[in-house]
Amino acid sequence: MDSQHAGIPLVPERSRDISAGSPRLQEVQRQLQSLAHGRCLDMVSRVFHGMPGRKARVSSGLTGSSSDLSPARARLVLHFGSYNYSGLNGHPRVLAAAGAALKRFGTTTSGVRLLNGTCELHVELERSLADFLGVEDCITYSSGYMANVSVLSTVCCEGDAVLSDVLNHRSLADGLRLSGARLLPFQHRDSRSLEAALAELPRSQRKFIVTDGIFSMDGDIADLPDLVRLARAYNAYIVLDDAHATAALGPLGRGTPAHFGLEDEVDLLTGSLSKGLPGIGGFAAGPKATIDLLRFGSCGYIFSASLPPPVIAGLIEALRILREEPERQERLHHNERFLRAGIQGLGLDCMDSASPIIPIRMPSIPTTVEMARLLQDEGIYINPVGYPAVSRNKPRLRLNVSANLEQEDLERCLEALEHCGRRLGVLSRDA
Ligand SMILES: Cc1ncc(COP(=O)(O)O)c(C=O)c1O
Repeated sequence: MDSQHAGIPLVPERSRDISAGSPRLQEVQRQLQSLAHGRCLDMVSRVFHGMPGRKARVSSGLTGSSSDLSPARARLVLHFGSYNYSGLNGHPRVLAAAGAALKRFGTTTSGVRLLNGTCELHVELERSLADFLGVEDCITYSSGYMANVSVLSTVCCEGDAVLSDVLNHRSLADGLRLSGARLLPFQHRDSRSLEAALAELPRSQRKFIVTDGIFSMDGDIADLPDLVRLARAYNAYIVLDDAHATAALGPLGRGTPAHFGLEDEVDLLTGSLSKGLPGIGGFAAGPKATIDLLRFGSCGYIFSASLPPPVIAGLIEALRILREEPERQERLHHNERFLRAGIQGLGLDCMDSASPIIPIRMPSIPTTVEMARLLQDEGIYINPVGYPAVSRNKPRLRLNVSANLEQEDLERCLEALEHCGRRLGVLSRDA
């Protein structure tokens, strides 16, 4: 007897196309088609060869039409798109420390942190980071994304109110969704919108103000003094994601709280180990009692493999270098200021950038991609950014400045921006 006769409804035949019936995958499909149609695909799926540093070799077209990925045919470019803010990626001391740990500990711990995945290097890294950031304790995760998801889904819960800047990183939103807390977005860096939301909430309710330190797409910095004022007035906790500010902002690169001298006012600091710091992973830092709870309660610590020892050894060495070489941060900030002033001098709009992330507003996505293509042809690599990373009406180029860029590189970048900008008619100075 077949199932229809037994009264069991037949399941519709499974399509070979996994996007069939999925609005989300169909939206991705539409985005891919529009990128391919605008000849943009090559420019958003590039392959880099060798160690990322001041210069890089880049091939276009992992997903696009031109698929010659051989290193010999790659373009040599100055790198204005890397998160290597402190310039420590590839530093000989970092490589030596990682190499020695590779021989001693191997490539992986083959375990999760809570069980057999903690070696002495994990403990040393967490102590060094806590010391560097000026907090009691620190816990590490396999990525900054994982740190945010783990921390927020553990610390916040149903019944809590979470006030979150609308431009916060996706990982914070994902963590909050898992937490079950009530999400109340506030306008970007807008204290009035935040205060209006806080004022509506009962005093007894647990409240969290959640913000990025440096905003990853706009390069502006959270107004931490004002957030602290409001947190005190309305009895709220502050959770700050310093992914782009660690080793890139504040004295020695100690981040947004140190930049404002407000280290004691942030209840939990999260961050990444793969941007200003030359590794992979993420962290949460704060009072020992809170970090202990995260060690026993947060999903990323319990259910995901621990960081590989060679990466950790490199990070520990990088923290040493940051302390020994304050001039590294000075160079980063000189580079950032020089470039921003030069770009603004060309009549381009850097929005409210005040950090090593410098966006340059472009009139449309096709112009953004064309500009990136022309720049790459002139030996300058800058990332083009559009929807969904930023809103549809704000496409941009996004520069990431590194301490290892030399003065002549900065001047070369400005010349190329002027030349390519003039060709595409995007310099308002030309208008
Ligand atoms: C603000 C912010 N937070 C968190 C993350 C995630 O960090 P990771 O790349 O270490 O996962 C990013 C990544 O770019 C980010 O921009």
